[in-house]
Amino acid sequence: VLIGPGLLKQSPELFEKHQVGERLFLISNPLVSRLFTDDLARDLSRNGFNVVSLQFPDGEKFKNLQTVENIYTDLIDQGADRSITLVAVGGGVTGDVVGFVASTFLRGVRYIQIPTTLLSQVDSSVGGKTGVNHQEGKNLIGAFYQPYLVCADTETLLTLPQREFQSGAYEVLKYGLIGDLEFFNLIASSMKDIQNRTQTVLTDVVRRCCEVKVAIVSSDETEKGLRRILNFGHTFGHALEAVTQFKLLTHGEAIGYGMLAATHLSISKGYLDASSGQRIIDCVRSIGSLPSLESVLIEDILQAMKRDKKRAEDQNVFVLLRSIGNPIISTNIQRKNLIEAWERAKESAQIEVAD
Ligand SMILES: NC(=O)c1ccc[n+]([C@@H]2O[C@H](COP(=O)([O-])OP(=O)(O)OC[C@H]3O[C@@H](n4cnc5c(N)ncnc54)[C@H](O)[C@@H]3O)[C@@H](O)[C@H]2O)c1
Ligand SMILES: [Zn+2]
Repeated sequence: VLIGPGLLKQSPELFEKHQVGERLFLISNPLVSRLFTDDLARDLSRNGFNVVSLQFPDGEKFKNLQTVENIYTDLIDQGADRSITLVAVGGGVTGDVVGFVASTFLRGVRYIQIPTTLLSQVDSSVGGKTGVNHQEGKNLIGAFYQPYLVCADTETLLTLPQREFQSGAYEVLKYGLIGDLEFFNLIASSMKDIQNRTQTVLTDVVRRCCEVKVAIVSSDETEKGLRRILNFGHTFGHALEAVTQFKLLTHGEAIGYGMLAATHLSISKGYLDASSGQRIIDCVRSIGSLPSLESVLIEDILQAMKRDKKRAEDQNVFVLLRSIGNPIISTNIQRKNLIEAWERAKESAQIEVAD
């Protein structure tokens, strides 16, 4: 996993050095192509790589089997064989689709991730989860399949719309909370620099997020135990995305709310002290304002949790905190605790934070 500013421009040398193969299929969407992939394709071609660029439309709604099928067809039409390398350039949608194509095309070909959103740099490009949505639910079809190389160029984040960037920042904070106190302190104290997308700070932060993720995934690649702690904030978060029809909140904002709820649950279960809880709440709030969820009913959230695919033995799995950097998995949470945690989370989300 390579991380830093300017990596895209160095791709020809990096690809040569890491022996990624000569025949490359760059896959992205029209927006990302205009921003990065067209230039990348030109640079790689000039340096002797055999490059074909493919595109599929932008958006989560195209993360499906039809898109996968279309890419297979393009690859077959181009005479692709097992020696090819697929290169995903874009956010998590592109990375997930391309990774899944790579895991299945000709029973598996090499792929490279070039993540260009903050979320994909700290989360989806690392860890080897690939897949697409089914009309019955998100990410229901997929495979564990590791990329050959990940190149996270932090300069690509400069063009990211503010709300997309903030969305990734909630996931960054998640790594501080499940990772270690020192990293949390770094995130909390450099939130302004992160928001300003200062390259040195971003490089350090993205690297540390990836280190936390890699350490967890290495010990539990297929999510039988420890990997579940990556879902801190996600039990509430996924339910909130579902009850708002994936429209009102970005994924990160849902996780922002989810982390507030998990923090309140951790306090009420007696795991976490109130002052650490307050530090977490302040840090969540310093990322930006969260859309109001006053009209969302707790009963609907609890119903949505019952449909969570990550339930185990008919219980929702919650990741709570014993302290910052010290997560614990908990399943026996009572309904009244959930209701109370949600009320508190909503209050915390609406309190104004001073600059
Ligand atoms: N595989 C995993 O482990 C994993 C983990 C987390 C999330 N995911 C998946 O990731 C997806 C979300 O990823 P995402 O948030 O990156 O969304 P995304 O891929 O839809 O990208 C968000 C938007 O930003 C645009 N974009 C990308 N790079 C840009 C840039 N540098 N400048 C300007 N615009 C740019 C995209 O075209 C898109 O419109 C979801 O489908 C989710 O399920 C996967
Ligand atoms: Zn997430």
